Amino acid sequence: MTSTRTQVAIVGGGPAGLMLSHLLDRAGVDSVVMDNRAVEEIRTTHRAGILERDSVRLLAETGVYEAGREGVITDGDRHGGIYLRFGGESHHIDFEELVGASVWLYPQTDVFVDLHAARVRDGGDVRYGISGTAVRDLGGDLPRVTYDDAEGVPHEVSADLVVGADGSRSICRDLVAQREPGHRRHFREYPFAWFGILCEAPRSSPELVYARSDRGFALISQRTDSVQRMYFQCDPSEDASSWSDDRIWSELQARLAGSDGFQLKEGRVIERTVLPFRSFVQTPMHSGRLLLAGDAAHTVPPTGAKGLNLALADTRVLAEVVEQALRKDDLEVLASYTQRALARVWKAQHFSYWMTTMLHRAPGEEAHRGFDELRQLGELTSLVSSEAGSTYLAEGYTGWPTA
Ligand code: DHB
Repeated sequence: MTSTRTQVAIVGGGPAGLMLSHLLDRAGVDSVVMDNRAVEEIRTTHRAGILERDSVRLLAETGVYEAGREGVITDGDRHGGIYLRFGGESHHIDFEELVGASVWLYPQTDVFVDLHAARVRDGGDVRYGISGTAVRDLGGDLPRVTYDDAEGVPHEVSADLVVGADGSRSICRDLVAQREPGHRRHFREYPFAWFGILCEAPRSSPELVYARSDRGFALISQRTDSVQRMYFQCDPSEDASSWSDDRIWSELQARLAGSDGFQLKEGRVIERTVLPFRSFVQTPMHSGRLLLAGDAAHTVPPTGAKGLNLALADTRVLAEVVEQALRKDDLEVLASYTQRALARVWKAQHFSYWMTTMLHRAPGEEAHRGFDELRQLGELTSLVSSEAGSTYLAEGYTGWPTA
């Protein structure tokens, strides 16, 4: 058994855990990051690809990159808007013109690789591929995280504070709930999922296309000049492996078709998965010496790509309160975390829910089908023809200013 003493033990080494460790390091606070997954597993699990303006700033302005190599700035694609497509026509929402902001297309896997490289470069203590992780002694002054390494050797990390950045299957979330009898868990399930593909094809559009059609939602996103990411609404029980390339392309083409003759550029499908769809918030986001960040505390549906952005926004607030709590030796400082983080979480929950319901077909509501379809078209038409409506979309998509 090895024992390590640190100031902050971080359970979960995805972008939230690594960013927090990076920000704490810059504030002179030690941390140890632990994750059950191997680096390679996280690096190759495809996630969303849109970074809000402040997420880009957080990466570019806090020393994640060596001078002259600003990953997201040099390798990411800056997008000044998106297209909303309905009634067979595309409508451009110009974020630059409406709110003077852009987003960057830069996949979450690249954010992970950059943050991991920065922690290794700065001598950070990051431990991957472990098992049997448990958080102990939360009632005392010095909680511990125990685990076995890849060789089966037991380790313990004791710390002043423990942060659960351990994703949607968080173990830390349950520990907060056990310790907080008044905690709440808010759920919303949706009667659909997304079928996501990666394909070898050129770009079909200069910016992302969010499409509403009578067959359901579709999203045309991008990765590189020769690899694209696309999604379409499907049944949650859909078996992705049973879909041939031809069937996928004819479904996508049908959802994008219109009088303007828009055609997707097709190619070999190199990955296909069905992605779950739900909204979730647990409150409070901390109890005593244990705090939650990112998906461990909240999940948003993927429409609008808010998940990673929310997780990064959490770490910004968390780094600030953790540094203060440790410097003043006063746990009371942590009490403001839940309230500050949740203000943004609920805005993002609403935004993701709103974009979802505005663009998806609600199955099983045949009695209201005609009404709902025409109402949806009414909403989209008023959005694209009103500066106020378009500005709300632009503000939410590019991200609200950091509190
Ligand atoms: C992507 C995913 C999203 O959920 C979204 O709203 C935009 C882009 C993506 O993976 O590229």
